[in-house]
Amino acid sequence: MNAPLRAADTKADPAGAGSVLSVSQLAKSFDGRAVLTGLDFTVKAGVATALIGANGSGKSTLMKCLIRLIEPSAGRVQMLGQDVLSLSPRGLRAFRAQVGVVWQKHNLVPRLSALSNVVHGVQARMSGPRAWFQSIAPDAVRAEALHSLDRVGLADRALQRVDSLSGGQQQRVAIARMLMQRPRIILADEPDASLDPQSGEEVMRLLSGLARQDGLTLIVISHRMEHTLEFSDHILGLQQGKIVMDRPTQGTDAALLRRFFEHQE
Ligand SMILES: Nc1ncnc2c1ncn2[C@@H]1O[C@H](COP(=O)(O)OP(=O)(O)OP(=O)(O)O)[C@@H](O)[C@H]1O
Ligand SMILES: [Mg+2]
Repeated sequence: MNAPLRAADTKADPAGAGSVLSVSQLAKSFDGRAVLTGLDFTVKAGVATALIGANGSGKSTLMKCLIRLIEPSAGRVQMLGQDVLSLSPRGLRAFRAQVGVVWQKHNLVPRLSALSNVVHGVQARMSGPRAWFQSIAPDAVRAEALHSLDRVGLADRALQRVDSLSGGQQQRVAIARMLMQRPRIILADEPDASLDPQSGEEVMRLLSGLARQDGLTLIVISHRMEHTLEFSDHILGLQQGKIVMDRPTQGTDAALLRRFFEHQE
């Protein structure tokens, strides 16, 4: 029922260094204005990477380029064994099914129960409506959805309408919905924003714990330095669309991160 444990995914990595994501010379311009310029980095399997940088430095644009919610202008993205920028529409759908995303704004259906919202998450792992109708037993999906809610600590709220839950609980429902996809990698864009400090921390702890338990790779954007330090293994720092920091979290402290943010122009 649970997402299977996945060992280091070497298929994605011709160089054999265990990376699930390899980005080279990635660039994005909007109307001739460069927002990302010549990005090169790799992310190893099972590693939690924090993507940090000032407002407007290009973090969300980068995250969206990785799964082509925004089309990059140039460069290469190798992820989960796929050359992402050359995928057909169908290949792209199958690829995206393996990538769990968590946004600041979670787009749950407010009038439906937590359980119904989580059940809907299963559609994201199917490549078309036929697969959805023909190959999934409703009882099995419901049981898996209940298990997902249990993993985010909300089994007792399964039948409650989502709009009656707190912001932190809603974000956890969104995470449970994402788990239904059985993702291989999780991308999270400020999942802790617009939550109070305690709920934000709970959401970050939950995401990093789930990723660790399932052996998943996690890339998370957060503006909270303490979250970066506590919940990541590696840090990528963006400044005006360029990677200016690429280092393990171990050996990084708040003073170093403060200096990084002070040197933004
Ligand atoms: N669709 C778009 N059209 C034009 N410009 C855009 C578009 N999306 C983003 N930008 C610009 O690209 C730059 C980077 O934006 P992005 O949202 O990636 O930054 P960010 O690092 O995620 O910032 P924040 O911390 O505020 O979320 C900004 O200058 C933004 O205005
Ligand atoms: Mg952003």
